[in-house]
Amino acid sequence: MNKCDFDTLQQRRGTASVKWDVLSDDETLPLWVADMDFRAAPEIISALHERVDSGVFGYALAPESWRQSLARWLATRHDWTIDTKWLVEATGVLRSLGAAIDVFCSNGDGIIIQAPAYCGFLEVIHDHGVELLESPLRRVPSHGEGDFSYEMDFEDLERKASDPRAKLFLLCNPHNPAGRAWSADELRRAGEICRRHGVFLLSDEIHADLQMPGSRHVPYAKVAEGFEDTFMTFWSATKTFNLAGLHASVAICANSKVRDRMRRMHSKHGTGYLNTFSFLASSVAWDKCAYWLDELRTYLHGNYLALVGFIRERMPSVRVADLDATYLAWLDVTAHGVPSWELAQRLETEAKVKLSPGAMFLEPEGESFLRVNLASPRAMLMEALERCARMKAGKSILTQHK
Ligand SMILES: Cc1ncc(COP(=O)(O)O)c(C=O)c1O
Repeated sequence: MNKCDFDTLQQRRGTASVKWDVLSDDETLPLWVADMDFRAAPEIISALHERVDSGVFGYALAPESWRQSLARWLATRHDWTIDTKWLVEATGVLRSLGAAIDVFCSNGDGIIIQAPAYCGFLEVIHDHGVELLESPLRRVPSHGEGDFSYEMDFEDLERKASDPRAKLFLLCNPHNPAGRAWSADELRRAGEICRRHGVFLLSDEIHADLQMPGSRHVPYAKVAEGFEDTFMTFWSATKTFNLAGLHASVAICANSKVRDRMRRMHSKHGTGYLNTFSFLASSVAWDKCAYWLDELRTYLHGNYLALVGFIRERMPSVRVADLDATYLAWLDVTAHGVPSWELAQRLETEAKVKLSPGAMFLEPEGESFLRVNLASPRAMLMEALERCARMKAGKSILTQHK
C-alpha cells in the first residue's frame, strides 16, 4: 500500500521558490527547474521540527554520524564502500565543480563535457573562464519506453581527452538531460580514455538514486577500483529527497592531495560551510527514507509513461528520449521547425506552461528540444501537457507538422 502522497499539489507560490516565484502570473504551470513539487518525507519534516524547537542555531560542523549515514547508504543501495575520510562537504554540487576547476585548471585549460549538457555546468565553466571541450553524445535507437536514446562517442571522447588543454572530464552519471544511466562497460571505457591522457574524472552522481524501475545505478568508483587517485564523485541527498533549498553535497575523493586542495578552495570561497538543517535532513533521509524514495520512483515512472502515452496520442511528431533515470524528460521537437527558445517562450506566454528550452543544454545545432520536469502531481503534469496540445485553439505548433 502507498504510504506517500505525491498527488496533492503543494502551495509553493510566495515561498521564495525559484520554480514558482519567477512566473509572470498565477496561472502558469512550471515544469522547468529540477526540484519537485512534493512534500519531503515525514521523518525529515519531524526531525527538522525538533531542531527548530531547540531554538539554537549556532555554527554547524559536519557530524561523523552524517558521514556514516552516507557511507551506509552507499553500501546498502549502491554496493559501494567508502572511507568517511574521503568526504569533502560543499554547499552544492556546482560548488564542488567550481572548486575542482580551481584545483585542476589554469589559464587556457579546458574541461570536457558530453552534450547535451546540464545548463548549471555551462554556467560554472563559463564563470571560471576555462575552455569548454564539448563531446557530443550519439543519438541511438530506443532501448526502453521512449523513441530514442544516447550513447557516448568514445572516438570523439578520445580526441577531446588528447587535447593538451583537457584537464578534467565531467561525467554526468546518470545524465541530465539525456536520461541515460551509464552501464559499467561504458563507464569503464570512458575511464580508460581519461587515464590514458592524464585527464582527471569528475563523476556527478546527484541523480544516482533516481533510477526508473528496472534500471540500476553504477557508481563510477565501482569500475575504477585500483585507480582511486584519478577521479572524484559528487553526491547529494538534495535531488533525491527534494532538499535542494537546504544546500548540502559532498565530493567523495580518495586522493588526499586533491581533497586538501578542494578544502582550501572551499575555505577561500566560503562554499564548504553547510547549515545545521542540511546535515540533519540528509542523514535522516539516508537513514530512514528509502521507502519514500522507492515509492517516489514508481510515481515518477508513472508520470513518464503518462507523458509518453499523451505525446504519442496528441503530439505524434514529438519524439521522447528514453528515461533510465532522473525525473527530466527530454523531448525532440525539431519537426516543428521552431527554435527551442522561441517555442518555450510561446508555450509560456500562450499555453501558460514553463518548460526548459534545449538551447540552454547545448542541444545539437539545427535541432530543437524541450526538457520537462516530471516531478509534480500527475494531474498538474497532464494539465500542462493538455495546455500545450490545445495551444492556439487546436492549432498547436506541437501537434502539427510545419
Ligand atoms: C546533474 C546536476 N548536477 C548538479 C546540479 C545542481 O546541484 P546543486 O544544487 O547541489 O549545486 C543539478 C541540478 O539540477 C544537476 O541536474
